[in-house]
Amino acid sequence: MALWAGRFSKEIDETVNAFNSSIAFDARMYKHDIQGSIAHATMLGQCGIITEEDSRILVKGLGEILEDIESGKLEFDPTAEDIHMFIEAELTKRYGDVGKRLHTSRSRNDQVALDLRLYLRDEIAEIRGMVHKLCQVLIGLAEKHTETVMPGYTHLQRAQPITFAHHMMAYVQMFLRDLGRLDDTAKRMNVCPLGSGALAGTTYHIDRELTASLLGFDAPMSNSLDGVSDRDYCIELANTLSLIMMHLSRFSKEVILWCSWEFKFIELDDAYATGSSIMPQKKNPDITELIRGKTARVYGDLNTLLTMMKGLPLAYNKDMQEDKEAIFDAVDTVKLCVKTFIPMMETLTVNAENMRAAAAKGFINATDCADYLVKKGMPFRDAYKISGTLVAQCIAEGRTLETLPLSEYQKMTDLFTEDVYEAISLETCVRGRVSQGGPSPEAVAVQIALAKQQLEA
Ligand code: ARG
Repeated sequence: MALWAGRFSKEIDETVNAFNSSIAFDARMYKHDIQGSIAHATMLGQCGIITEEDSRILVKGLGEILEDIESGKLEFDPTAEDIHMFIEAELTKRYGDVGKRLHTSRSRNDQVALDLRLYLRDEIAEIRGMVHKLCQVLIGLAEKHTETVMPGYTHLQRAQPITFAHHMMAYVQMFLRDLGRLDDTAKRMNVCPLGSGALAGTTYHIDRELTASLLGFDAPMSNSLDGVSDRDYCIELANTLSLIMMHLSRFSKEVILWCSWEFKFIELDDAYATGSSIMPQKKNPDITELIRGKTARVYGDLNTLLTMMKGLPLAYNKDMQEDKEAIFDAVDTVKLCVKTFIPMMETLTVNAENMRAAAAKGFINATDCADYLVKKGMPFRDAYKISGTLVAQCIAEGRTLETLPLSEYQKMTDLFTEDVYEAISLETCVRGRVSQGGPSPEAVAVQIALAKQQLEA
C-alpha cells in the first residue's frame, strides 16, 4: 500500500506504478535525502513540533538506514515510488509511529527540491576539481612549449605563427571561465527550499533558518511557491556543463586533426587510442570523437530541461520528475569526459618538428613581411600589397619568402635589405608578438602566471 493510500479504494495498477516510479534513477540521492531528513527531524525536535526523544530516534534511525544502504545490507525496492517514499517507509518499518512523524510539516515537493540541490552541490564541487586539474595539466603542457612554434589558423588556413603554449593557454582561459560559471551556479543555487511544504508553506512554527544553516545553505528560499517549482539551478548547471562540453569538443576536434597524417602535430599514448578491426595500421583518436559526440547529449539534456519547464503552471507538477535523468546524465557525461581527457592530454607526445615544418609552409610570415616595410616608413596598405605580390610570386615559382632572393625583394622596393630574412624568420615572428595576450614566450609567461593565480584563488 502506498503511503498516500488513504483516499484510494484500489491498489495502483502495476504498469502505472512502474511508469510513475522514479526510484530507478533517484535512488542515487539517498545520502542527500537522509541528510535533509536529519536536518528536518532535528528542527522538528528543537521547535517542539515533535518530542526531543522522537527527534533523536529519527536522527538515529536515518543514520542506520544510511549505513545499511552503504554496506549493502539494505537494498532499494524497485517497486517503491521514489527514494523519499522508500526511506520514509523503511524508517516506519523500523520505528513504527515515530517514523510516521518524520513527514510532519514537509512535502515531497520541498523534499525533492532540497535533495536535488544538495546532490548537485556535491557534483559541482567534484566537477570543479576535475576542471581545475585539467587547467593545471594544460598549463604544464604550456610551460614546456613556450618556444614550440606552430601555425595559428583562421578558416583552418595557416594564418600567423603562434606557439603550442599559446594554443594551450587559450583553452585554459575557456576552462577558467567554466570554473567561474560553476561557482556562479553553485552560489545562486545555495538557498534552501525546505519548509516550502507542498507549495503554501505550513501552519507549524518551523525554523527555516535552522534547517538552511544545518544543511550549509546561505539562506532559506524567500517564496514557498518558487521554492518547490524552481528548477533554474538545473538549467543553469546544464548550461554550464554544455559550455564545458563545447570547449572539450572544440579541443577534441583539434586533437583529431593533429593526430591525422595530414598534421601529425601530436601522437596520443597507445593507452589512449584505439585500433581498427580490419586496418592494421590504424590508430584512432576515439576518445576525442566520443567526447565530441557526447557533447550533443549534454546539449540534449539542457534542451530537455528548458522544454520541460516552459509550460508549467506554478507550483509543482509531475513533469518535473523528468529533471533528474536529464541533469544526472549531463553531470555523469561531463565527469566521464573530463576524467578521460585529462590523462590523454597528460600522456600525449608533442611533435615539435612537424609543427615547425607546417609553420614554415603557408606564408604565415606574410603579415610580418608587410610589417617590416611599415617599420621602414611605408603605409600598411602599400606594404600589405607588396607582401601579397611577393607571396603570389613565391607560389608561382615554388619558393617561400625565406628562400626568395633579395634581388627579387628589391624589385618591389629598395626598403628591403638583407635584414628582411631575420625579420621574417618564424622565431622572430613569434618573439616579436609581444602584445599582451600574444604568443611571444614573455607574453605567454604572463598568461601562465595569471592563470595560476586564478587557479589558486
Ligand atoms: N519523485 C518525485 C519527483 O521526482 C518526488 C516529488 C513527488 N511529488 C508529488 N507531489 N507527487 O519529482
